[in-house]
Amino acid sequence: STMNIVILAAGQGKRMQSSIPKVLHPLAGKPMLGHVLDAVSLLSDAENIQPCVVIGHGGEAVQQYLLKHYPKTRVALQNEQKGTGHAVIQGLNQEVSEGITLVLYGDVPLIQRQTLKQLLDIASDGVLALLTQHVNNPTGYGRIVRNLNGEVVQIVEEKDADAQVKKITEINTGILACPTQELNHWLAQIEPNNTQGEYYLTDIVSLAANVHTPIRTTTPTFDWETQGVNSRAQLALLERVYQGHLAQDLLDSGVTIVDPARIDIRGSLECEPDVFIDIGCIFEGSVRLNTGVRIGPYCQIKNSTIDAGTQVHAFTHIDGAKIARDAVIGPYARIRPGAQIADQVHIGNFVEVKNADVGKGSKANHLSYIGDATVGEGVNIGAGTITCNYDGANKHRTVIEDGAFIGSDTQLVAPVRVGKNATIGAGTTLTKDAPAQKLTISRTKQASIDWQRPIKNKLMNDQ
Ligand code: UD1
Ligand code: CA
Repeated sequence: STMNIVILAAGQGKRMQSSIPKVLHPLAGKPMLGHVLDAVSLLSDAENIQPCVVIGHGGEAVQQYLLKHYPKTRVALQNEQKGTGHAVIQGLNQEVSEGITLVLYGDVPLIQRQTLKQLLDIASDGVLALLTQHVNNPTGYGRIVRNLNGEVVQIVEEKDADAQVKKITEINTGILACPTQELNHWLAQIEPNNTQGEYYLTDIVSLAANVHTPIRTTTPTFDWETQGVNSRAQLALLERVYQGHLAQDLLDSGVTIVDPARIDIRGSLECEPDVFIDIGCIFEGSVRLNTGVRIGPYCQIKNSTIDAGTQVHAFTHIDGAKIARDAVIGPYARIRPGAQIADQVHIGNFVEVKNADVGKGSKANHLSYIGDATVGEGVNIGAGTITCNYDGANKHRTVIEDGAFIGSDTQLVAPVRVGKNATIGAGTTLTKDAPAQKLTISRTKQASIDWQRPIKNKLMNDQ
């Protein structure tokens, strides 16, 4: 492909009051710059495009992030921030002097693919395409100046604007696309003779108008797409706007969200119809909830799938798990990576499950740790049962076969196996395999002794 995509990210972001570069601050769990690169990667011939991020302040951290997550991306260093025009010059690939250039901002994270496509379609006709917006309060933005025929002739920055221009409510979002050959030509002509002493990218507009290059504008589908982030307050506001948008999509697809203002999706949440989500839940990574799943309040669910009809009660944490149908999990359960929970399993309050298969219909309803274990079907695990899976150096597996009954407060010292339909007496410390069908118990014999309880020393306590 013959295309340049230049993402400006050299600014310092002073108002973030942070040692982390602004564009690496996360929105919906992902750095702002990642959102922009993801939108770009959805463009039709994205495989052939090598976007370029212009870095400056905090450049090393940005570069490291890109290497790890977007290795195809180029970086260009802008040592001194001499303005947006100067930044674009740094970012243009000299080997790609034809086709179209798209200019984006690393701190305008929510630009959508559809809007970029609109701009590119316009620019493909040899046109300078500007993304503009009509706003109630245009203060701070560059203004779109049109002639009597309604044609764009200039962009004037706030700081260079007179009272008349300041009244214009159509603003420059900063995002634009145009033919690269012309852009190179215009950029060579811009000069820093303005209030800020900067090379303004926006000066290409009057240069284009002078040579009668057509200039056309388009607007984003959603107002929030072009919202820039300069402070943590703006980031927090944009986060809520975006979460609201994600919630709206889920509502439209047949999900009940008790309060769309109290949900956080940091990744992708895929839901079938008739999923129910109570307030205060956080979804991270990639989560799938099948039809009829109910998630109680204040749950945190990450990289997991939950099959139809399963109920997750309040304050449950689920991470890296597969939960089958019609199970009941929580309240206050913790399901950790490698947990595979079968149909109709019950995992109750203060039960932790890690790297364990729990078979169909099995129950662990209270205060247990099930780690590195294979639990068969129809097993009942009493309160306070613990798999002692770690010997201080290595992890070992516990196997509990179908129909076993584990009495309360049992310690299963792994590696150990409980046979089919075996019963383990309460309080047992199981260090050897328990045979099928039998009752296995390890317990000191109960005894009753005559005994006088100590009495409080009155003198001492009066002091
Ligand atoms: C710019 C536009 C203005 C528009 C506004 C939208 C110009 C001259 N003005 O103004 O018309 O309404 O954005 O928000 O383009 N950057 C660099 N290197 C630089 C300067 C900036 O990488 O030398 C980056 C910044 O990190 C930022 C972006 O470019 O991501 C925009 O810079 P900023 O200073 O915020 O531009 P504005 O003055 O707000
Ligand atoms: Ca600025």
